[in-house]
Amino acid sequence: MIKILGVPGSLRADSSSNLILKVIASMIPKHVSFEIYDGIGSLPHFNDAKDVPDSVIYFRNKVKESDGVLICTPEYAFGVPGSLKNALDWTVGSGEFFDKPVSLVTASSQGEKGHAALLLILEAISAKVINNGTLLIPSVRAKLDPSGNVKDQATITNLHKVIEALVQIIDK
Ligand SMILES: Cc1cc2nc3c(=O)[nH]c(=O)nc-3n(C[C@H](O)[C@H](O)[C@H](O)COP(=O)(O)O)c2cc1C
Repeated sequence: MIKILGVPGSLRADSSSNLILKVIASMIPKHVSFEIYDGIGSLPHFNDAKDVPDSVIYFRNKVKESDGVLICTPEYAFGVPGSLKNALDWTVGSGEFFDKPVSLVTASSQGEKGHAALLLILEAISAKVINNGTLLIPSVRAKLDPSGNVKDQATITNLHKVIEALVQIIDK
C-alpha cells in the first residue's frame, strides 16, 4: 500500500482547497492510502530554538512516513497562505521533503503568483515536484457545486492526471 499525504493550505473546513482534497480522496486508486493532514493550523510559529513541539514532530513524521505529498491550497495576497508556509518552514532543517514526490494543486480565484511562489519553496526544500503533477485551478468556486463536487469536466480530468502522475512516480 503506498501512502499519500494530503496537505491543505486553508484552515477552513469547507474551503475550496479542502473540498478538492475530498474530491481527490474519492479519485485515489485502491492500492493507495490517502490521508489528509488537518493540523497546519495547530502548528506554532516557526522558530529555530532547540525544543521542537510535539505537534511539529507529528507533522514531520507524517511527511516522512508518506511516499508522496499532495498539497492543495489557495493563494492569499499574491502569495502562499502563512500557515502552509509556516508548516513547510518547520521541515527546512529536518529535511522531510528531501526527494519526496510532491504534487501541487492551487485552487484559487487567480492563483498564479501563489502557485509559482510555492514551487520555489518546494525547490528550496528539495522536494521532487512531479512533472505533470501540478495544477492551477483559477476561478475555483465557479467549478464547484454547492455540495462540493467539481462540476467542471476539464478540472476533473486534470485532477485525475495529477493523481496518476504522482502515483506513477511512487510506483516506480
Ligand atoms: C486573506 C485572503 C487573501 C486572498 N488573496 C487572494 C489572492 O491574492 N489571489 C487569489 O487568487 N485569491 C485570493 N483570495 C481568494 C481565495 O483565493 C478564495 O478564497 C478562493 O476562491 C478560494 O476559495 P476558498 O476560500 O473557498 O478556498 C484571498 C482570500 C483571502 C481570504
